[in-house]
Amino acid sequence: MNFIKHKLEEIIMGATRELGYSLPENSEIVRDSDRPDLSDFQSNIAMGLAKSLKQNPRMIAQSIVEKIKDDEIDFSIDGPGFINIKLSNKFVGDILNKNVSRETFALQHFENTKKIIIDYGGPNVAKSLHVGHLRSSIIGEALKNLAKFKGYDVIGDIHFGDWGLPMGLIITSIKEKGIKLPLSVAELNPIYPEASKRSKEDSEFMALAQEETKKLQNGDEENRKIWKSFWETSVNDIKKTLSILNVDFDLWYGESDANDDVNMLSAEFHDKGFTKMSEGAEIIDLSNYPMNGVEVPPFIVIKSNGAVMYGMTDMATLYDRVKRQKADMVWYVADSRQGLHFHQVFSAAEITGVAENVKLEHLGFGTVLGMDAKPLKTRNGDNVSLMELITETLSKARKKIDENEKTSSLSDTEKEKIANAVGIAALKFADLINPRMSDYIFNLDKFVSFEGKTGPYILYTAVRIKSLLRDCGIEFKENPITLSNQYDKALAIKICDFTSVIDRAFEARGIHILMQYVYELAVSYNNFYHNVKIMPEKNLAQKKSWLKLSNTVLLIFEVFADIIKIDIPERM
Ligand code: ARG
Repeated sequence: MNFIKHKLEEIIMGATRELGYSLPENSEIVRDSDRPDLSDFQSNIAMGLAKSLKQNPRMIAQSIVEKIKDDEIDFSIDGPGFINIKLSNKFVGDILNKNVSRETFALQHFENTKKIIIDYGGPNVAKSLHVGHLRSSIIGEALKNLAKFKGYDVIGDIHFGDWGLPMGLIITSIKEKGIKLPLSVAELNPIYPEASKRSKEDSEFMALAQEETKKLQNGDEENRKIWKSFWETSVNDIKKTLSILNVDFDLWYGESDANDDVNMLSAEFHDKGFTKMSEGAEIIDLSNYPMNGVEVPPFIVIKSNGAVMYGMTDMATLYDRVKRQKADMVWYVADSRQGLHFHQVFSAAEITGVAENVKLEHLGFGTVLGMDAKPLKTRNGDNVSLMELITETLSKARKKIDENEKTSSLSDTEKEKIANAVGIAALKFADLINPRMSDYIFNLDKFVSFEGKTGPYILYTAVRIKSLLRDCGIEFKENPITLSNQYDKALAIKICDFTSVIDRAFEARGIHILMQYVYELAVSYNNFYHNVKIMPEKNLAQKKSWLKLSNTVLLIFEVFADIIKIDIPERM
């Protein structure tokens, strides 16, 4: 809720009620100003009322503002009947003092007992993480923490890809070459790409790999042992990379954990008559479940060669999430290009009753592009390794910190720590500022810049406040905020929008809404900071008020940092 808009709505609604006007339900009464140079907010309700009352909208607007007797609000009527609203410093300051405290910001202020399971990250075991996993991981992490902030009971599950044909391909290679276990990451990494390539040319090898996959799924001891060994090597490596990004999970489950439920459900679907045979495979017909008006292929329960498929591991995982973990919602943060897959899983889950009493959402995302606006790839067309991308970002950030005068006296370890914070903030901000479904161009030099719409710019602003409050030597926390000019007022208005931004971002599952807001908050703060000279201010009450205002902005930055999981350094 935006506290100012809420108050204005109460006032305007009171007046319309007194005048006997009835507003249509859910009509937007107060909105942001189209002309911020002329007004703080505006109301367009007179036009709507004019239509239903068949009267002149300007006259209606006039009658409403005349009804409202408030010295702290300045109304003017514009154009066909827009009501421009300009608030006094006192009006805004009072609302700020009343509503905005540490509690409002730092606590989960809504009680939602509903449980959301978020499936994100989804890396594949024994394949290196690539840039697609960057998006899934950081978007999922941010959405998880946003939902937590809203008070939901939230569980993050990584859902490793660890049960399909790639596993059989690796097992076949390991057996054939007599490779000794355990493997190092460097030894493991080349095995899958090589085996995958070979399987496309060598049908005998492919058949063998399919056989080994089936044996693994059916519990063959030797295959399980080999699998467990390289699984551990790979998972430890994945965890290391994710921890650099501050991405963490409550559940580190994989497709493999669904194996028993896959068998149980396949039998149940068969027995209950949900399936039929088609070209040797057992399927669930989805011809009544078109996607965007287009018929989709059936959901495969068991393939003709008996292998467990991607759809069925998701189905069995969903079963556990709904029936045992009692999720009210399950969100899947995965590439938009997997839309058909999720449509099939969700439809089949509806048919079979697995999706009873649960809301399922595929939260897709766009592609990371190179400077040539084509999907980001290495020179020989491979996916760009996530670790390489992170390393490059951190070293660019380090260079910036080394060139920075403000940190020149710091030790090497301290500089490294700041550079890491700056680099990760740069990477995350650049990704999350885009609407989830949009593609974006990966332009590292732009991302790490201290100026413009970047993560480092936000950090820089937060650090500026931190040092101001650290060095001021004044106790200001008990002081009320008194606004005295256009800069502190504009900043206060921005602050009052924070909780409504959180709500909008949550409803849209759109972290970019929060990012855009935080950027605008930083711009507004810097504008205030440059125009209001805080430290030289002689009036102590005024000085304290500005310090407290600064502190409130810092609180928002801290909540924000805690949602997208970045660190705010002490200096930079
Ligand atoms: N492992 C998959 C991939 O890398 C993504 C998994 C998405 N989540 C899911 N529940 N299917 O393509």
